[in-house]
Amino acid sequence: MQSEEIRQRFLKFFEKRGHKIIPSASLVPENDPSALFISAGMQPLVPYLLGEKHPLGTRLVDVQKCVRTTDIDDVGDATHATFFEMLGNWSLGDYFKEDAIKWSHELLISKKEGFGLDPRRLYITVFAGDENAPADEESEKIWQSVGIPKNRIYRLGADKNWWQAGESGPCGPDSEMYYDVTKRGLGDLTREQFLAADDKREVVEIWNDVFMEYLKKDGKVVGKLPKKNVDTGAGLERLAAVLQNKDNIFYTDLFAPVMEILNEISPRGDLRAKRIAADHIRSAVFILADGVTPSNTDRGYVLRRLIRRAVRFGRGLGLSDEFYKEIISVIADKYGKNHSHILQNVRMIEKEFLAEADKFSKTLDRGMKEFEKGTDPFVLFTSYGFPIELTLELAREKDVKIDLEKFNAEMKEHQELSRAGAEQKFKGGLADTSDKVTQYHTATHLLHQALRDVLGEHVGQKGSNITAERLRFDFTHHKKMTPEEISAVEKIVNEKIKAALPVNKVILPRAEAEKTGARHFFGEKYGDQVSVYYIGETLPSAYSKEFCGGPHVANTSELKGVFKITKEEAVAAGIRRIKAVLA
Ligand code: ALA
Repeated sequence: MQSEEIRQRFLKFFEKRGHKIIPSASLVPENDPSALFISAGMQPLVPYLLGEKHPLGTRLVDVQKCVRTTDIDDVGDATHATFFEMLGNWSLGDYFKEDAIKWSHELLISKKEGFGLDPRRLYITVFAGDENAPADEESEKIWQSVGIPKNRIYRLGADKNWWQAGESGPCGPDSEMYYDVTKRGLGDLTREQFLAADDKREVVEIWNDVFMEYLKKDGKVVGKLPKKNVDTGAGLERLAAVLQNKDNIFYTDLFAPVMEILNEISPRGDLRAKRIAADHIRSAVFILADGVTPSNTDRGYVLRRLIRRAVRFGRGLGLSDEFYKEIISVIADKYGKNHSHILQNVRMIEKEFLAEADKFSKTLDRGMKEFEKGTDPFVLFTSYGFPIELTLELAREKDVKIDLEKFNAEMKEHQELSRAGAEQKFKGGLADTSDKVTQYHTATHLLHQALRDVLGEHVGQKGSNITAERLRFDFTHHKKMTPEEISAVEKIVNEKIKAALPVNKVILPRAEAEKTGARHFFGEKYGDQVSVYYIGETLPSAYSKEFCGGPHVANTSELKGVFKITKEEAVAAGIRRIKAVLA
């Protein structure tokens, strides 16, 4: 079964059961500094999992694009990818374990409506229980009621069967579905045999049903959510591999067109290098399409690293600009139907990718020269961006000895310094509805409108990032703001805080919402129903109106402190960045 049919069958199956199809959110989290990229389907839905009303109701289904780079060094094996798509169905306080499990089972095995998998090859895991929640006997019983034998249901601990996106936020026990991918068929397995089969990839996890009913704060369960939710996730790549009888995601139709080009260019080239190039180019295309460009920080750095690795491995395969272009265009064709923004932006993607690739090729050339001169590996890495793996590879070829211990010690010190910076970013986020973060969300709306009042209608939001300490706001404007303009903006925001304006939300059909003049991201995909937050007595008279998922304070008088802009700077051509505090 081709990936297109997998998508369609998944969406249709749940649509028929009362779910509304929602578009994939951008890979760049909106108003969520807790993560660089969306890495699970639930992330863009956190406000709704916490109890906010979703404009489309309580049953949703989607295919969410995700980026996860934690396992980047494993890419090249059978199952790891830095970009993937996650199929998911959602109950926001609607159905719970019974329907979720029955539908998962039905979709997996039904030949007519689903994937027609062999029920005798299914294995199930459920949560074993700990101090946070009891063992999930209920799920165990439901699985048995649909015909899974008791001895193929295993209880595992929180490391396997508890889902949470971070240290704070909605979470809960989960139940995972595994499929036997061996030719011979494994039959009944004891718990130990099952775990061993998982290690050997003889069974593959294909779907996860999370029963989200708990709330965590700083790593501890602090109580239950207002409503019980279901969040499920099935990786499209893995499902495609299973349904196409491939033991490797790179042999599925999702990667086939790219692998074909690589095999043509380099019939005898290293297979791992081909997979890394294919994976990283695909991820880079998606990240670029969502408006991120290569840089030395945060998202831009992840993107830079992906392109550089693609180039490093691509070099040995003989990839040149012309081939990169061909691969990008093949990816755009393969994904264009479901992700039209890639097709629309393909020229820009090509341009950015090639610019970075060319720059890095020069780095590689320079690094090679430095290496020949005997330059220290740490200096090669930090000053020339020359990766240690490459230094080691070259050293092996040329029979040069490298003091890896010294390098690692130097790196460790270096990383500790960068980690201290990175950890800052994992605080806050939409999962963190602490008072201060909520206040900054509302302050951001006031700032946006005040900037338009002072600077003009050309001001549009390009990005936002909020922590409990400050807000950050990127917007279109072509020159540095004067001190007068800055104080004028501050003055307006502080007046609006003093005016104690109510903050309200309405849910409207998209066309209606657009007619109200509410601000929204140009080019962003929204569902048919959108929520609009407005600050003021009524929608027509409101001072600020924006398409937004919240959370917000109920009245601007809840914004504690004086609004102050602490920094105004350029981040890119025509884009300014403001940092501001309520102090
Ligand atoms: N949130 C769950 C996951 O990402 C479904 O696996």
